[in-house]
Amino acid sequence: MIVDGKSFRTLWLGKDNETVEIIDQTRLPFAFVILQLDSADKAAAAIRNMQVRGAPLIGATAAYGIALAMRDDPTDKNLAAASDLLMSTRPTAVNLRWAVDEMKKLLTPLSPNARVRAAYIRAGEICDEDVAICSAIGDHGMPIIHKAWEARGNPDRVNVLTHCNAGWLATVDWGTALAPVYKAHDAGIPVHVWVDETRPRNQGASLTAWELAKHGVPHTVIVDNVGGHLMQHGLVDLVITGTDRTTAAGDVCNKIGTYLKALAAHDNHVPFYVALPGPTIDWTIDDGVRDIPIEQRDAAEVKEITGKALSGEISTVCIVPDESFAANYAFDVTPARLVTGLITERGVGRASKTGLFELYPEHAGEDFYGN
Ligand code: MRU
Repeated sequence: MIVDGKSFRTLWLGKDNETVEIIDQTRLPFAFVILQLDSADKAAAAIRNMQVRGAPLIGATAAYGIALAMRDDPTDKNLAAASDLLMSTRPTAVNLRWAVDEMKKLLTPLSPNARVRAAYIRAGEICDEDVAICSAIGDHGMPIIHKAWEARGNPDRVNVLTHCNAGWLATVDWGTALAPVYKAHDAGIPVHVWVDETRPRNQGASLTAWELAKHGVPHTVIVDNVGGHLMQHGLVDLVITGTDRTTAAGDVCNKIGTYLKALAAHDNHVPFYVALPGPTIDWTIDDGVRDIPIEQRDAAEVKEITGKALSGEISTVCIVPDESFAANYAFDVTPARLVTGLITERGVGRASKTGLFELYPEHAGEDFYGN
């Protein structure tokens, strides 16, 4: 996407064609800072610290993390160590496991001296595939927004509500939930986005709002509890979110608070769509509430908040009494029954085992243990 007239992806190779460069997402929206990752350790730290985040981008960064590890030491021992290190960074987004498995499957049979080149090629392909997949999600999702606009009967505006950041910053480019929004906006559909701030880390307020502003898409940031009220008053035409892991039966795990939006949407007959690339589906499980590991992060993310003071200085303040404990559950699961449809690179399908098997027939013979 374009940032101040220059085209960017969220990660790319530097001038030496080996160092990986990323946009440090912890500095947005107040500073646009590029970081160099020159080792698997640094790639793992960037994922853990959420300098890169969002399920597809975590996977792409992990793929390059393996390539960096192979550049340092292409032995079996280091391949295993780098895979374990990267896998330990964040538990919920399944794209991480998918990308690490892809790299291990490719590299394990190769001789160590063939591994570096092969690893960089495959990591580059994973990035290019993600861009193509997200663009296709946009193509399949855009008609849904168009239809909602027609159904609304208001020529001036169609309102999409989104949660967290499932835009281009969460992927290599385009985004998942926001790809249809960008395509609709570019096609002249007057799309307006309600942006949930998404406490505790404020990915909506800091990242989604920044992206939409850079692209010129009209949007309004709201606190996380406003969505239900807006839906009751007919001010939301559809909800589109991303997902970090979707089960083979269509349950979707996404940023904490997504489930409550789905409940409100269901109660108000507002369509609730989830946009996802194939690698976000975990074909080995079918019950999201039972089987998806939910990341619990540092309580400091709940107790503190970072922002720009009126003086212009970036500072972090505490908003909770010193003696209070805080819990920081990062994701929740929305059961398939609350999901109107899944927008994938292969088209829009029902959130069910049959719906997913229709879109991905190559998985139809598998049982839920991936056999
Ligand atoms: O904790 P994060 O910021 O990595 O969580 C990101 C999300 O929950 C996104 O909605 C999800 O990864 C899907 S985005 C393509």
